[in-house]
Amino acid sequence: MTAKIIKGTEVRDKILEEIEAEVNEIKEKHGVVPGLVTILVGEDPASISYVTAKIKTAQKLGFNEIQDSQQPDLSEADLLGLVEKYNNDDSINGILVQLPLPKHIDDKKILNAIDPDKDVDGFHPVNVGRLTIGGDEVKFPPCTPAGIQELIVRSGVETSGAEVVVVGRSNIVGKPIANIMLQKGAGANATVTIVHTRTKDMAAHCKRADILVVAAGVPDLVKPEWIKPGACVIDVGVNRVGEKISEKTGKKIAILKGDVDFETAKEVAGYITPVPGGVGPMTITMLMKNTLKSLKFKLGIA
Ligand code: GUN
Repeated sequence: MTAKIIKGTEVRDKILEEIEAEVNEIKEKHGVVPGLVTILVGEDPASISYVTAKIKTAQKLGFNEIQDSQQPDLSEADLLGLVEKYNNDDSINGILVQLPLPKHIDDKKILNAIDPDKDVDGFHPVNVGRLTIGGDEVKFPPCTPAGIQELIVRSGVETSGAEVVVVGRSNIVGKPIANIMLQKGAGANATVTIVHTRTKDMAAHCKRADILVVAAGVPDLVKPEWIKPGACVIDVGVNRVGEKISEKTGKKIAILKGDVDFETAKEVAGYITPVPGGVGPMTITMLMKNTLKSLKFKLGIA
């Protein structure tokens, strides 16, 4: 069997089209567009490239986008002041502070200072709580897990009653995707297991999975023998394993590898996401969706 490849780029394009249509409709009816501020402290190249992609996408969708770039020596107090400024800015619906922050800044303190109703990353404890409660309480599911759910659902994979095994217990992917998939409701209703570095027999758990979500940060961790034939495999890993010269630009670019040995896994799985081009494109897409949602909550039309 050769798996159906789940193309994140195609799902992204479809969702962005849906968002753009909604933005235009809201602009016409209410005379406002979603406002997103991206705060970047320092000059980390990976962060700059993420932030640039976020800005480009927001601008393409007709959002009011503010890029607030700060020097690496910005103090924690000044960053808290900036967050407060945007908390009180009526034109801003979403605040994103790009992580990681420089070492002298306590990222927990900063994330906790963001107004939970503008926390489009979904990292504030209030939004983590809302996600755990589920149902109507959920405002902003974290972007990568929300994107994973979209990939699964839009591929037509049945989630109700499915065995979902999540590899990794991070706050950004592992825990929230487990929470999302066990909710009551469409696109969820699954039986969920999380496995991690202290799990006794990781392979045996993975082998039971109808849907296997791997977010371990270990290149090629999952072998084909770990996969149930026909399973849906979602690879969240983005591991930089070397560099190469881009054929398009002639510049040095990273060689990326997922947490799943793609070439062998695709012969066993029913569905599989590639790296790159699978989960990656969904994160920014869902950030845009959360920012639009934030405006809709404000307008009372969500
Ligand atoms: N750094 C890498 N990914 C993310 C993300 O999704 N949100 C934020 N705020 N920072 C990141």
